[in-house]
Amino acid sequence: MNYEVIATNNDTQARAGLITTDHGQIETPIFMPVGTVGAVKAVHMSELRNDIKAQIILGNTYHLYLRPGMDVIEHAGGLHKFNGWEKPILTDSGGFQVFSLAANRKLKDEGVYFRSHIDGSKHLFTPEKVVDIQRTIGSDIMMALDECPPGQSEYDYARKSLRLTQSWLKRGWKHFNETEPHYAHRQAFFPIVQGCTFKDLRQDSAKFVADLGAEGNAIGGLAVGEPTEVMYDMIEVVNEILPHNKPRYLMGVGTPANILEAIDRGVDMMDCVMPTRNGRNGMLFTQHGTMNMRNKKWAYDFSPIQEDGASVVDTAYSKAYLRHLFIAQEILAMQIASIHNLAFYLWLVREARKHIIAGDFKSWKTTMVENVTRRL
Ligand code: GUN
Repeated sequence: MNYEVIATNNDTQARAGLITTDHGQIETPIFMPVGTVGAVKAVHMSELRNDIKAQIILGNTYHLYLRPGMDVIEHAGGLHKFNGWEKPILTDSGGFQVFSLAANRKLKDEGVYFRSHIDGSKHLFTPEKVVDIQRTIGSDIMMALDECPPGQSEYDYARKSLRLTQSWLKRGWKHFNETEPHYAHRQAFFPIVQGCTFKDLRQDSAKFVADLGAEGNAIGGLAVGEPTEVMYDMIEVVNEILPHNKPRYLMGVGTPANILEAIDRGVDMMDCVMPTRNGRNGMLFTQHGTMNMRNKKWAYDFSPIQEDGASVVDTAYSKAYLRHLFIAQEILAMQIASIHNLAFYLWLVREARKHIIAGDFKSWKTTMVENVTRRL
């Protein structure tokens, strides 16, 4: 993997960059659609490629390991072959999902014991094992095993948790460097900064992560219940330490406004279930504000979903029709909303990149944050 900074601005930390992987290039800042089980919910590959213009998608170690299992993925020749996505894939390590989904979790020095949320079967994830699993999946970027404590954690718990994440990180990094890719393409390993809402822990974690010298670095443990301003502060603290010449990935964030504020603070990569999950519930994000498509006010509004939208669905269907589909619980409602929202998120980061290169990102961002937070 290679990363190059293309442009920076004097009045923000924002950067435009270019990541090169064996599955192609990624223009940053970038939003990465979430494809937890190897599928972006309600969206198929040609829509992702042509309409949404996704450049990289996510998969998840926890889900793919439990179902369909590593034997199937190995026989398929890796996730790219299995799901037909030929561009870059990033996989999360599964730590986060073990904590949010699995039953009977037990944290030990060696790793995390848990029971599957699907069939109750017992498993152990170690830092080494999640590297092996991600080798089998064949993701272009794999993530370290970490613990992501709740946003309101006490200092003592946050510090102990960080020490565990750091000891897992050393082991995962060592194992990554001692093992080879299973397929013909190269893989990168990103460590994850933790430390909850405590500045000194965040700084300690960012230094530890930076010292490893990995090809890119991630910021985890945010958007987990802490106030938004605290999240922004933590991003600033961490990005003062993380190297400038490596991509920075902010995990699981966020709303369109969060994305723009993170870019402003020097973040290059982001992912979130919000555009797809909220879309399936009838919420549309646009550059003029958000719309709840179940609302009665759209019943007779036969204007396009979004006249100046980034996706073909925006002008192919009316607001009244989409509202009807949601009320009638048609699958097509979820498809249209997911495609629209993802196309909007990808449009937003493309525009951000253009304005970073043009040098007027700051003023563009201020106006855009006001627009996207409006309710239509
Ligand atoms: N996704 C969102 N936040 C996190 C995090 O802190 N760790 C991991 N592994 N995944 C995440």
